[in-house]
Amino acid sequence: MEQRKGQRLVLFPFPFQGHINPIIQLGNILHSKGFSITIICTNFNSPNPSNYPDFDFHFINENLSEDEKCNPNIVALIQLINVRCAQPLRDCLAELLSNVSKEPIACLISDFACHFTQAVADELKLKRIVMRTGGATSSSAYAAFPLLREKGYLPLQDSQLEKLVVELAPLRVKDLPLHDSCAPDEYYQLVDDMVNMTRTSSGFILNSFEDLEQPALATLRQEFGIPVFPIGPFHKRFPASLSSLLTQDQSCISWLDKQGPRSVVYVSFGSLTAVYEMELLEIAWGLTNSKQPFLWVVRPGSTINSDWLEAMPKGFLEALDERGCIVMWAPQQEVLAHPAIGAFWTHNGWNSTLESICEGVPMICMPFFMDQRVNARYVTEVWGVGVQLEKRERGMIERVIKGVMMEEEGEEIRGRALILKEKATQCLHEGGSSYQSLDSLVSHISSP
Ligand code: UDX
Repeated sequence: MEQRKGQRLVLFPFPFQGHINPIIQLGNILHSKGFSITIICTNFNSPNPSNYPDFDFHFINENLSEDEKCNPNIVALIQLINVRCAQPLRDCLAELLSNVSKEPIACLISDFACHFTQAVADELKLKRIVMRTGGATSSSAYAAFPLLREKGYLPLQDSQLEKLVVELAPLRVKDLPLHDSCAPDEYYQLVDDMVNMTRTSSGFILNSFEDLEQPALATLRQEFGIPVFPIGPFHKRFPASLSSLLTQDQSCISWLDKQGPRSVVYVSFGSLTAVYEMELLEIAWGLTNSKQPFLWVVRPGSTINSDWLEAMPKGFLEALDERGCIVMWAPQQEVLAHPAIGAFWTHNGWNSTLESICEGVPMICMPFFMDQRVNARYVTEVWGVGVQLEKRERGMIERVIKGVMMEEEGEEIRGRALILKEKATQCLHEGGSSYQSLDSLVSHISSP
């Protein structure tokens, strides 16, 4: 812990699990560098303040109805939050700024998705630094949207899905960070707002590291013209378990203790995705037919029109003892570090992708939307640490699982994954790229 700097940082998370974890970790990292930390969060999906006695918490009303909060269209929800939180955040920050009994506020650090916070910070003459919970490659793909529209890749045409995006190779049109359930113009506007408000900010923090995303980081530096700080992987400095919004079921760790080394497929699709009943059946049958033990996170509500496990195939749950373990939510970082895990079947949310890379676990990639598609393409084609599951169909699922768990292809992937794991560890050591970038970030924050 460094000597206190006499400066306060205000962090504003975007209220979803995959965004809360990294920004809370960032708070811990910067607190260890001597800053005082204030977190302003929405009442909705807020982390438990009692887990963070060193942080000062303030809550704002996000002004969303229960229906609006449950909207499965995440893009619509992002837009609403950007409108409804502006006044409450402004009021809360103004009050904090007027409180002279506390250390002065050096800057506001807010999520890339919360583009409205730039205008609020400007109005209050506060420096804003953007925190991106996704990777650098997906960020540079977002920054390329105007070019993609100009070149005719966007709006998306079904006949073009397999086409290579030459300017962003090896991404194909279907790997672009899009969301299917959203009107294209609305989505492009949101992306442009997020990108443009980052350009006008004072700096860009990423949960990534140079060795992983060097070309994209160089593009961002050039495109944005602001300092870029890849200081990840965050969770290797501070784990995220305390910021979990759902209770992590620890019983799966004792189940894993009973399994052979590298024998288990860990299956989890993050905090936001949902599958159709038909897809759930294919996943269940594919897992069964692969004959590999599995640990499967089935989050309540993650099957459309089903509360939890009602849609599972007949007899599947009864026979579970022999083949697998199902939980509502797992201690994921602990699971991925467990010696029994042989592969991670993932939706490629950025946190999951990075957590898997840090443990050298090969991935089976099944992206759903937005940056997950970019991440999956890089996992398979650039870093070579996973395979893409092209169809949610039991025969293909069985073949892909067997390939990764039992065949030479899997061994080769595991070899590359272990090399990448080593790089993810080294960058945090003294003199490593993320270590140095964190020092630069601390100086940047402290400079007037
Ligand atoms: C989303 C996006 O997909 C992601 O790309 C973006 O950058 C942040 O928001 P999400 O879909 O939830 O997040 O996925 P992911 O980024 O992987 O984050 C999930 C987090 O929940 C991870 O930190 C993971 O460790 C944790 N988790 C997941 C658990 O603690 N338990 C579980 O059972 C599953």
